[in-house]
Amino acid sequence: MASVRLLTAGESHGPALVGILDGIPAGLSLDAGTLLRDSGRRQKGAGAGARMAIETDVARILSGVMAGRTTGAPIALVIENRDHVHWKGVAVPPMTTPRPGHADLAGALKYGQDDFREVLERASARDTAMRVAAGAVCREFLAAFGIRIGGYVSAIGSVTASLDGLSFESRIERASTNQAGCPDGGAAAAMEAAILQAGGAGETLGGVIEVIALGVPPGLGSYVQGDRRLDALLAAAVLSVPAMKGVEIGPAFDNARLLGTQVHDPIRKEGDRLVRPSDRCGGIEGGMSTGQPIWIRAAMKPIPTTMKPQPSVDGFTGEEAPMRYERSDVCPVPRAVVVLEAVTALVLANALAEKLGGDSLDEMAPRFASLSGASLSDLHLKGEHQVFWP
Ligand SMILES: Cc1cc2nc3c(=O)[nH]c(=O)nc-3n(C[C@H](O)[C@H](O)[C@H](O)COP(=O)(O)O)c2cc1C
Repeated sequence: MASVRLLTAGESHGPALVGILDGIPAGLSLDAGTLLRDSGRRQKGAGAGARMAIETDVARILSGVMAGRTTGAPIALVIENRDHVHWKGVAVPPMTTPRPGHADLAGALKYGQDDFREVLERASARDTAMRVAAGAVCREFLAAFGIRIGGYVSAIGSVTASLDGLSFESRIERASTNQAGCPDGGAAAAMEAAILQAGGAGETLGGVIEVIALGVPPGLGSYVQGDRRLDALLAAAVLSVPAMKGVEIGPAFDNARLLGTQVHDPIRKEGDRLVRPSDRCGGIEGGMSTGQPIWIRAAMKPIPTTMKPQPSVDGFTGEEAPMRYERSDVCPVPRAVVVLEAVTALVLANALAEKLGGDSLDEMAPRFASLSGASLSDLHLKGEHQVFWP
C-alpha cells in the first residue's frame, strides 16, 4: 500500500470538491497560503475559459493539521464550487448528444446513464483543482528535503519553443513571465496568438508540457517490482490527468531514433563524486531516480469541447446531430502545468516517504541525511570474484 495517497470526490457543478490526503508525516508546517499559491496558477493562463473567472479555488483544511503543523493524521480538504449557486435547484436540460473525445459516450454505456451530464460532471477536469491543493501539501513535504518541482509549456499547437541551452531552473523561472507559461518569449507570443486564432475559429488547441523535479536524491523507486518503478508511477500519474495522452521520461522519442552511445548519459568522476554531464535519461534509470533532475514531457490533446460542431449522434432521437457546446476552455495547456506538477509531487512524496520510513519529519531528517549520494565511497564494491549460485 502506498504511503502517501489521495482520494477525491465531487462533481464539476456540485457543492464542493473534497479530498483526503493520507500519509503525510507529522511536523510539517502548513497554512492556507501554501494551498492558495498553486491553485491560483491552475486558474490563470492563456486559453482559460469563463468558469475560471467565477471560481477562486480556496482549499480549506478540515483535518490533519493543528496549530499550523501536520499531525500525521489524514488531511481532509474541501474546495467549494462557487458556480454551484447557478446550478442548484435549476432544471438542467438533459444532454443527449455525446462529444467526441470526451468521456460522455463510453461513460454512459458503462454506467447505464440516461443523461450524458451524469458522466461529464465527474469526468470534468474540475477534479484537478483538488489534486493541485493536495499536490501543494506534497510539495511542502518535498521542499522540507530540498526537492523542488516546476514546469513549463514547450509547445502549443504547431508553435514549439526553442529551449536548447536554457537550464531547467531558468526555463521554470522564465515560464512565469507570460500567459502561455513558456520560457521562450518569442514562442510564448506566437502561442498566445495561436490560441486567440483557434478560439476565433471555434477550435481548441493542445500542447506539450514539461515538468522538472530538482534535488531528488538517488534511489527513489525500485527495479525489484514493475509496479515500484518510478518512471511507471510518474507516467501513470501524468496520464491520470484528463486529456494527457502521451508521456516521455527525458527526450525518450528522440532517444529512440538515436544510437546507444548518443543517448546514454556518461558516468564521469570529479574527485570522489560520480557526475553525469547530461540528462537524456530524464533522471531515472532502472526505475530509480539517479540524482539528476527528473524530466517529464507530456502531450496534451486539444480538448474535446469545440465551439465548431463535431459530428455525433443524439442518443435520444437516434439521429445524427452535431454535439452540443458546453462552456469550455480553448486551450488549458498553460494552466495544466501546475496540475502535472501536483501529480508529480504526489508520486515523489510517496516515493520519498517509502524510502525514508518514519512518522514525523524529525524521524525522517536523519535518515535523509544518511542517504547515499552519488560518490565512489557510497558504493560498496568488493572487487573480488564471487560465486553467486553454488
Ligand atoms: C486543466 C484542464 C482543463 C480542461 N478543460 C476542459 C474544457 O474546458 N473542456 C473540455 O472539453 N475538456 C477540458 N479538459 C479535458 C477533458 O477533461 C478531457 O478531455 C475529458 O475528460 C476526456 O478525457 P481524456 O481526454 O483523457 O480521454 C481539461 C483538462 C484539463 C487538465
